[in-house]
Amino acid sequence: MAKRKSLQVCSSCGHQESKWLGQCPACGEWNTLEERLPEPERPGHFLQDLATPQQSALLSQVAAPASARLSTGIGELDRALGGGLMEGSTVLIGGEPGIGKSTLLLQAAASVQAGPVLYVSGEESPAQIRQRADRLGISQAPLHLLCSAHMGTIQEELKRLDPRLVIVDSVQTMIVPEAGAVPGTINQIKTVTHELAEWSRLRGAQVILVAHVTKEGQIAGPKVVEHLVDAVLLFEQSGSDLRFLRATKNRFGAIEEVGIFTMEQTGLVELTDPGRIFLGTDRTSPPPGVVAAPCYEGSRVLVVEIQALTVPAKGAVSRTFSDRIDNRRVSRVAAVLEKHLGVTFSDQDIYINVAGGIRIQDVAIDLPLAVALFSARQGKELPSGVLATGELSLAGEVRPVSHRAQRIKAAEEMGFSRLIGPPGAAGSTTSQIHWMEAPRIAQAIRQAF
Ligand code: TYD
Ligand code: MG
Repeated sequence: MAKRKSLQVCSSCGHQESKWLGQCPACGEWNTLEERLPEPERPGHFLQDLATPQQSALLSQVAAPASARLSTGIGELDRALGGGLMEGSTVLIGGEPGIGKSTLLLQAAASVQAGPVLYVSGEESPAQIRQRADRLGISQAPLHLLCSAHMGTIQEELKRLDPRLVIVDSVQTMIVPEAGAVPGTINQIKTVTHELAEWSRLRGAQVILVAHVTKEGQIAGPKVVEHLVDAVLLFEQSGSDLRFLRATKNRFGAIEEVGIFTMEQTGLVELTDPGRIFLGTDRTSPPPGVVAAPCYEGSRVLVVEIQALTVPAKGAVSRTFSDRIDNRRVSRVAAVLEKHLGVTFSDQDIYINVAGGIRIQDVAIDLPLAVALFSARQGKELPSGVLATGELSLAGEVRPVSHRAQRIKAAEEMGFSRLIGPPGAAGSTTSQIHWMEAPRIAQAIRQAF
């Protein structure tokens, strides 16, 4: 038999090289290439039992699927999934250890209104899971528990129980003997994911896989399986007790949706209506650099507080530190201010934060960001009750925003009285809020201060 040639495999992203390199050319990590023997391919005998011989069919004769979303019973999880679990789908939920993945999924397993539900753990004993269930007050829920890391055992149980929903915690602990002796290798994770995803598709069931992620937010190893699953959700924590669940891939829904939770003594609690939570402390007037903004994230408006700070650059090159709003967006908005208002930022280090630690993707964050930067740089505070919304063009124009009426309503509910935004809002709502039209950045700044 020909000798199997060894490979260098990146432990961070799974990239393969024939020779060792100090830096992985795919993900840029240093010292992550490790020597591995290529693991043998495995015939998928478990799935062959399920698969029926296939012939092509006319598209028009293919039965349209019934509206087949299964609610997990947890609204914020359903929201992040785009409206629940799709029949025949597989979802990967990633997050750092301790973030609450097992808690969330045990709560979901207990509240799902369909059965049977199978919760497989390769990480904890039945007693540990029972203890958590007691803490969550869900020990009487009709869910089946299997503590095993062996795919053979799990497959037997899948055949016996024929569950509607299977939760596997975690994909890194599962072992398929044919894919090598060590759990968590790339070949193991790929094989486990492939087999469970195929099972789910063929049975019309649902599978949720838990995956641990590294500090950098990469799903350790299983980055390579993202294409094998239908949706990937990342569970993240802000500096506070808040937890955010976001889709980074969703074959059946939008990826802008964000589910919001807090971790309490009795498990994860949904924040369906976050209210003032992203507005920080209640102030009569905001200090310089602080501006509120109604942001459309997913399908709801969140009113958030942006905080900007500028200090003389410490190095020869000024830098931007912003992990909640894209760094490039911040630099671009600073450049627009510099060009159109003559306020210099090129010799300043810029720090941007969002209260509550939520990441903002809405493009209408441009104008509030500009107002916050201007306010911080000039040391001028904004009058109370004012907030801003709008996208900025490089030419300094304030561009229209989507979902204007919802933004106005949310701002009004939070007690604001004036909203600076793009032109064209007059007469569009019956709101008491005063929409201050600003066609260009210079007018917006004038209106604000
Ligand atoms: P866990 O779900 O085990 O995280 P993961 O599976 O992502 O590693 O949750 C871990 C943390 O959550 C742990 O530090 C304890 C805390 N916790 C609570 O605060 N309240 C609770 O009701 C539960 C079950 C856990
Ligand atoms: Mg866990």
